Amino acid sequence: MLNCDTLIRNARVLDGSGSDAQLLDVALHNGRIAAIDVPLKCRADHVIEADGLCLAPGFIDAHTHDDTSVIETPTMLPKISQGVTTVIVGNCGISASPVRLKADPPDPMNLLGKRNNFRYPTFAHYLAELDAARPAVNVAALIGHTSLRNNHMDRLDRTATDGEIRSMHAELTSALAAGALGLSSGLAYSSANAASTDEVLALADALIGANAVYVTHLRTETDAILDAMDEAFRIGRSSRSPVVISHLKCAGIANWGRSGEVLHALEQARTNQHIGCDCYPYAAGSSTLDLKQVDPRVGIGITWSTAYPEVAGRTLADIAAEWDMNQLDAAKRLQPAGAIYHSIDEDDMRRILAHPATMIGSDGLPWDKHPHPRLWGAFPRVLGRYCRDEKLFTLPQAIHKMTTMPARRFGLAERGAIAENHWADLVLFNPDTILDTATFADPIRAAQGIECVWVNGTLSYTAQGLTGNRAGRFLPGSATQWLQ
Ligand code: ZN
Ligand code: CU
Repeated sequence: MLNCDTLIRNARVLDGSGSDAQLLDVALHNGRIAAIDVPLKCRADHVIEADGLCLAPGFIDAHTHDDTSVIETPTMLPKISQGVTTVIVGNCGISASPVRLKADPPDPMNLLGKRNNFRYPTFAHYLAELDAARPAVNVAALIGHTSLRNNHMDRLDRTATDGEIRSMHAELTSALAAGALGLSSGLAYSSANAASTDEVLALADALIGANAVYVTHLRTETDAILDAMDEAFRIGRSSRSPVVISHLKCAGIANWGRSGEVLHALEQARTNQHIGCDCYPYAAGSSTLDLKQVDPRVGIGITWSTAYPEVAGRTLADIAAEWDMNQLDAAKRLQPAGAIYHSIDEDDMRRILAHPATMIGSDGLPWDKHPHPRLWGAFPRVLGRYCRDEKLFTLPQAIHKMTTMPARRFGLAERGAIAENHWADLVLFNPDTILDTATFADPIRAAQGIECVWVNGTLSYTAQGLTGNRAGRFLPGSATQWLQ
């Protein structure tokens, strides 16, 4: 008879492919899925009676800023408590490595921590620290364009010279060789906005033949979003790489209702190149406090402020009233600071979330004092609110968006599916009760309905909390696979 470490009996298995659940037994051994059958005869050290709960591949958070938190807070409770077993770090042009700072981190690199959190002058340093920290979740990494600019340019408000591009290119090439998944950009931010398309095109040349992806926070998500998408598609074609548009949305009140148009442009482009996107399930974004986004018609919450730390959690309108000034002046006084912007239309968000090209990415900001609730709630919210309660998509489709789809797109081999010999990253959850409990008012709360989470075959989280075992590892990129 087969020996195994763990036998999960009688689970409704959603394998990640998008097909319907099947009642099965799953055996784990040496970190991998050893056998799947019904009934499965095996001598197991641990037996879990699933009693018809759902078993899915561990969720892959396609868009995170967990670069430094996987090392500083390796228990990764905000993520593992949602059933997330892998985080993609380095999004929006800002990776924690390779980074060599001369001063405080430029905006928005400060979303990843303070100056002393940037301790990885090379990608190899980052990998060594990750290995030593042993986070509870697996980590795969993009290299940020803004981070490279920081390393090789004396100022960020201009485009790079040919020489600077050559140095950035060399640094990106060596990180890709060491297992980075691709290049990310954050062209909307002032630290990268001055970069010409040619700068990014020349840098993205490093992706050719590297099985890598180009991931972008578009140059703009407002009026000119279609032009910004064209720029991204062009960079993908020239670097012969798939493109992932980060947190696709129509931002700002003037843009509400344009999701149909935006998705149509995405679909057109998908007929001749590989393009996908990620989305978080909320009608509000969050980043650093950007004076250009201060609009009295938009509700803005303050997530942190270096100058006035005590105001975290209050609205900008409230603070401005107390200070007897307009919101723009109050926002200037709070700098540097972080904010939540209720500047997305719920219908647009749903349409993008439900689109077959869309993966789930929390975009959670782990260092924020009063974070956007997506940090703790994104995945259970998709499954509870948008799948079960509002029926935006079926449960197998929802699971596919958070497992097999990102694993294939980012080239995470033997992950993201329940299949024999795949790594045993798994989540057991109750489909009737799963739900986010984190709210804008009370954002630091673990979701409900997550029963067990295994990372590389190790039981790491249960409904009772952390088990104390941490089994995550660095996942190098391999060949990406795209199913349109
Ligand atoms: Zn972003
Ligand atoms: Cu982001």
